[in-house]
Amino acid sequence: MRDQTDKSTLRTHIVPAAFSHGPVVFSRTLDSTNDTSKELANGGAVDGTAVICEDQSSGKGRQGREWIATPGLDLTFSLIVRELSDQMNLLPLAAALAVCESCDRFAGSTSRIKWPNDVWISESKVAGILVEARPRSDWAVVGIGLNINSTKENIPAEIRGQATSLLIETGYQVDREEVLRLLLGRLHEFVMALRAGRTADILHAYRSRDALIGRTIGWEADHVQNRGRAEGIDDAGNLLVSTAEGQLALKAGEVHLSEME
Ligand code: BTN
Repeated sequence: MRDQTDKSTLRTHIVPAAFSHGPVVFSRTLDSTNDTSKELANGGAVDGTAVICEDQSSGKGRQGREWIATPGLDLTFSLIVRELSDQMNLLPLAAALAVCESCDRFAGSTSRIKWPNDVWISESKVAGILVEARPRSDWAVVGIGLNINSTKENIPAEIRGQATSLLIETGYQVDREEVLRLLLGRLHEFVMALRAGRTADILHAYRSRDALIGRTIGWEADHVQNRGRAEGIDDAGNLLVSTAEGQLALKAGEVHLSEME
């Protein structure tokens, strides 16, 4: 699993079939794998289609932020998911769990989730997930940026203090293809669990990795700053927060977590 060799390019010729339960679209450069996936989904691409690229020129993060990855060192890809109907709201949590389980296999530690779906190792962010869903058209795109072999120097200065990579955590170069293979497999299994209605398993697994529970957090909603204590998630995946006014359930798309203590 771990080696010291140069893994600077994904070997495109071994990407199909062995890597995924659906077709794989590999392109060296794309603006955003999420944008390409949305176009493909609108055009009828099947469930399980994965879009992978080496160099993403306009990678998108949540809430309008940018996602920067180092070409040749990290992983940027998106997966098209269909046929989820009522379970769509738990897809971001399920995707975070798939990332956590894959990271743990390589980093040998327990990664945790900062609601709704940032993946942390030792209080630093190793992966971000952007889910863009069109439930009425019955598709969602799960975009994942996972820092694999970036060094501290490769990480942009403005986020260096809060970001990490599997290399930084382990001291070893990690084989990106192995991570991708494992992660696509875990994503497939979690999507199957959602379809089968095994939401209790997903909620239980998520709660065991909740990085926010018990912490004081700040968030912005409708241009108003708020503070409260994180108390876990409800069964719909909303973040429960206790405030002076009582308990609130925050929806991922509607709040911007601004701080935590
Ligand atoms: C976040 O932490 O704000 C989410 C980051 C999501 C980044 C990934 S990289 C692959 C996919 N394509 C994008 O443009 N964004 C996601």
